[in-house]
Amino acid sequence: MTDIPKVIAIDGPAAAGKGTLAKRLAEHFQLELLDTGLLYRAVARKVLDNGIAIGDAPEAYADLAGQAARDLIPADLEVPGLRADETAQAASKVSSLPAVRGALLDFQRDFSRNPPNSAPGAVLDGRDIGTVVCPDADVKLFVTASTEIRAKRRLKELQDRGLEAIYARVLDDMKERDARDAGRDVSPLVAAEDSFQLDTSDLDADQAFAAALDFIENRNT
Ligand code: DC
Repeated sequence: MTDIPKVIAIDGPAAAGKGTLAKRLAEHFQLELLDTGLLYRAVARKVLDNGIAIGDAPEAYADLAGQAARDLIPADLEVPGLRADETAQAASKVSSLPAVRGALLDFQRDFSRNPPNSAPGAVLDGRDIGTVVCPDADVKLFVTASTEIRAKRRLKELQDRGLEAIYARVLDDMKERDARDAGRDVSPLVAAEDSFQLDTSDLDADQAFAAALDFIENRNT
């Protein structure tokens, strides 16, 4: 019998399969789930809703974004529009601001230490969970897939939602976001040294879940 992990940290680039995997592991172990990308998306949304364009000159929106991060409440994560690609690109930009990252850190750590609903633990997915937010997590997974496969998955997701999308454009956006998330000075996307690396390029959701579960159940043997 495996012990149930108290904290599972899942990191990786966009559309690698983190979200689905995080959800399934949370259900399996009855842990609370926090999609930390939603926090950055909610901050970006608040800035955009104030009529401020989120461009490549962070001075223009740094103060507002920092304030939005400090004021964030859980209900902000339910706001419609957080899943839009425009929000994802904007989230990638606001997330490079130290004031934003700093303001969201306590919320994430607190969630991992005192999960809601008296759950026995938490699953957090994002970019810096295993490295910065929960460096002591019992389980760290770093989920990747080739850029082309991730772009194809994102394209399908957009089309399934009835949105028009072109592969070349989705691929370019994906590369731009990867470069920004991995290249920033604070908390860049990087695999924690003690993480289990799971490449889902040739795996479907069931296979990725089975591989992660196998690692978790045998991690102490
Ligand atoms: O996981 P996502 O695609 O919803 O994340 C949106 C953006 O938020 C992502 O491009 C980078 C940022 N992010 C981050 O910097 N750190 C996290 N822990 C989660 C997301």
